[in-house]
Amino acid sequence: MGLALLVTGGTGQVGRELVARAPEDAVVRAPGSAELDLTHAGTVIEAVTALAESAAADGLDPVVINAAAYTAVDEAESNRARAFAVNADGPRVLAAACSSRRVPLLHISTDYVFPGDGDRPYATDDPVGPRSVYGLTKLAGEDAVLGSGARAWVVRTAWVYGAHGVNFVRTMIRLAGERDTVSVVDDQRGSPTWTGDLAAGLLELAARAAGDAPPAARVLHCTGAGETTWCGLARAVFEELGADPDRIRPCTTEEFPRPAPRPAYSVLSNDSWTAAGLTPLRDWRSALSAAFPELVEHK
Ligand SMILES: NC(=O)c1ccc[n+]([C@@H]2O[C@H](COP(=O)([O-])OP(=O)(O)OC[C@H]3O[C@@H](n4cnc5c(N)ncnc54)[C@H](OP(=O)(O)O)[C@@H]3O)[C@@H](O)[C@H]2O)c1
Repeated sequence: MGLALLVTGGTGQVGRELVARAPEDAVVRAPGSAELDLTHAGTVIEAVTALAESAAADGLDPVVINAAAYTAVDEAESNRARAFAVNADGPRVLAAACSSRRVPLLHISTDYVFPGDGDRPYATDDPVGPRSVYGLTKLAGEDAVLGSGARAWVVRTAWVYGAHGVNFVRTMIRLAGERDTVSVVDDQRGSPTWTGDLAAGLLELAARAAGDAPPAARVLHCTGAGETTWCGLARAVFEELGADPDRIRPCTTEEFPRPAPRPAYSVLSNDSWTAAGLTPLRDWRSALSAAFPELVEHK
């Protein structure tokens, strides 16, 4: 059977890519916040009800993918109530609606739920301990979804970039044309994740979630393979542009104080993903090369 997908946050960088890569026989609704605001419970319940009813009428399998979030990490420190409303209360309502209408839910979460002081990739069952308000809100969202009784999966990802929206890779492409040198932190490690590969992975999981053999593990990690620092990623962007990577100057986190603390070590182990029989995402460096034509086209 084909899928009927409701993608919340459909105007975001992950949401847009989910729409672009959805299978041809899928029916997709991907509203942005103006059309479906997660903090408006009535609208959320109506949207899930409409999805369940139209899928039943069309003989499709309904799945909700929650790609909506309050993602302004620094602003969240001073806008705590709004961040909790969108990242925790909204998913709670969404998951309850999915539970009562028996619609599977994929909920996207983040490496920021971990303390970020580790020295080996975080497993899904490693102790959490967010250091930022954003991380706290996303963890509360995970708990709400997993405790809702819905057939739900939490997918944690990290260092996401794509051709749309605000992200580090797009910023570096812009700065390459504006500045001679750019200082970039070299003491935070993570795994860059291209929205194209992430969306393909989420859609594979959506098909499994709707089918007869859904993954038993309810928390999964899905990032690009391998790891680097922000400085390493910036240098790779310059290489792709044909610019001199030495124009990127390594610096420390201390030199760039931000309102929200950033994890020093954010690498997630993707073992849960492969153990569930899902296709691992490619190495981050090859993904960047594959993504680059599109990134440049939309710069
Ligand atoms: N970006 C990263 O590096 C990263 C890393 C790890 C995890 N994640 C997670 O990945 C998911 C997708 O993130 P993204 O990078 O695609 O974010 P994004 O580009 O900032 O998009 C966020 C989306 O959420 C929507 N949204 C915001 N407030 C909303 C509300 N009250 N109700 C409904 N929708 C709302 C936005 O809609 P409008 O634009 O219409 O307002 C937008 O479509 C999020 O769960 C995020 O926490 C991201």
